[in-house]
Amino acid sequence: MTAILEMRGVSKSFSGVQALRDVNFTVEAGQIHALVGENGAGKSTLMKVLSGVYPHGDYEGSIIFDGEERRFRDVNDSEALGIIIIHQELALIPLMSIAENIFLSHPPSRLGVIDRDTVYRRTQELLAQVGLTEMPDTLVTDLGVGKQQLVEIAKALSKRVRLLILDEPTASLNENDSAALLDRLLAFRAQGIASILISHKLSEVARVADRITVLRDGRTVDSIDCRAEPVEEDRIIRSMVNRDLAHRFPQRAATIGASVFAVQDWTVHHPLHRDRRVIKGVDFEVRRGEVVGIAGLMGAGRTEFAMSLFGRAWGDRISGRVWLDGREVNLSSVAAAIGAGLAYVTEDRKQLGLILDADVRKNITLASLGRVARQGVIDADQVLRCLSGDRPALRRQPAEGGAVEMADDRSESIIPRRAYARHRCRGKIRNLLYNQRACRGRQGGGDDLVGNAGTARGLRPHLRDE
Ligand SMILES: Nc1ncnc2c1ncn2[C@@H]1O[C@H](COP(=O)(O)OP(=O)(O)OP(=O)(O)O)[C@@H](O)[C@H]1O
Ligand SMILES: [Mg+2]
Repeated sequence: MTAILEMRGVSKSFSGVQALRDVNFTVEAGQIHALVGENGAGKSTLMKVLSGVYPHGDYEGSIIFDGEERRFRDVNDSEALGIIIIHQELALIPLMSIAENIFLSHPPSRLGVIDRDTVYRRTQELLAQVGLTEMPDTLVTDLGVGKQQLVEIAKALSKRVRLLILDEPTASLNENDSAALLDRLLAFRAQGIASILISHKLSEVARVADRITVLRDGRTVDSIDCRAEPVEEDRIIRSMVNRDLAHRFPQRAATIGASVFAVQDWTVHHPLHRDRRVIKGVDFEVRRGEVVGIAGLMGAGRTEFAMSLFGRAWGDRISGRVWLDGREVNLSSVAAAIGAGLAYVTEDRKQLGLILDADVRKNITLASLGRVARQGVIDADQVLRCLSGDRPALRRQPAEGGAVEMADDRSESIIPRRAYARHRCRGKIRNLLYNQRACRGRQGGGDDLVGNAGTARGLRPHLRDE
């Protein structure tokens, strides 16, 4: 097989953070090449170098595509050669139709006027190719994430694609949608299109990949030819985390105490469809020192349950009883929930959890302004006292940097950090509601469930009283 892509000796740093160190990465024509590694290993950065998001001159090393060295100035240059990237965060415009989204950057036109008939017809063809039956004029906002992901792929196909890069495409998809997407990749391979698949889900990587490359701390540490040798998950995880599997998670030494949080017969109706009972009489208890997981399929009501508990932030006609430390409380508003010692880490951190234009410092202290202000004026020293402490990745970030400028893994860590800061100031954190999908793509190794268990354990110290 011939190589369609060779990246040689690629290094890239961001003011003090060495994201890639002398990475070599080769993709053969028509191959599905999986790129795996822990959060922050450098996967997305490597793909941004490849696709021209970071232009030539912004990194060291070389890119050889189709036998020639390439010096991309921007994404248009790489797209012209058929290198199409679908980023970790989808880039569709919700209030535009599927057709408008697909042809936004390259609308077919006649005499300078957009040719709507062609747009419609071509969109229909592309949707059929990715297995969607929606009408081209359906608004993107009316589609679920799985279908939006397929629209992104249809958009890629609307350009001449030779190498398709998917950065964690299945992170927020359910099993059926993930399987449909992987089937698409296999179909593309049959048509000779090469793909690079970034994923934390090793089972799906094993299912479709021809080769798996492992990145760790910005270096290539392993590369497995799946056709020549068996894919051993243990080997991949060991390469990813650089430690023995026996130590995959930190030792657990929990001392389980009395009940700190109990909920009885919790019932919540939908805020718009007021007759629809979304949560139907749930009972729930957390004991001191415990990490309690709430499992369920998409749509089972996990988020709605957590949000409705957090000061009735979601839902209508809410009933049920709540006890904190054995005393019945009425958490009738978010302020009351915060006051009672509850913290909530949102599922959709960018929409609900962060103010993207505000800096890291403001985002972290926002929910505890009363604690960092003196006579109505924010006390910078008190802010710093609140912020000092854990999370090395955040410590490296200048406090003035906007949350929006941060890489995903680190903007994710601001919200728990804020919850922590808030209670650190008042010396107590009682209960942290941590929404699973806020850990999108995080992993402690292995598949998603294992990953979430890993994350939950990582939060243990936050759940104990200080
Ligand atoms: N724009 C940026 N500014 C500063 N540092 C960055 C930036 N983008 C990435 N980094 C840092 O570079 C390293 C690699 O990040 P990258 O996003 O490539 O990791 P990743 O493997 O894609 O992780 P994940 O699985 O969380 O998506 C991390 O330490 C990250 O914090
Ligand atoms: Mg990434």
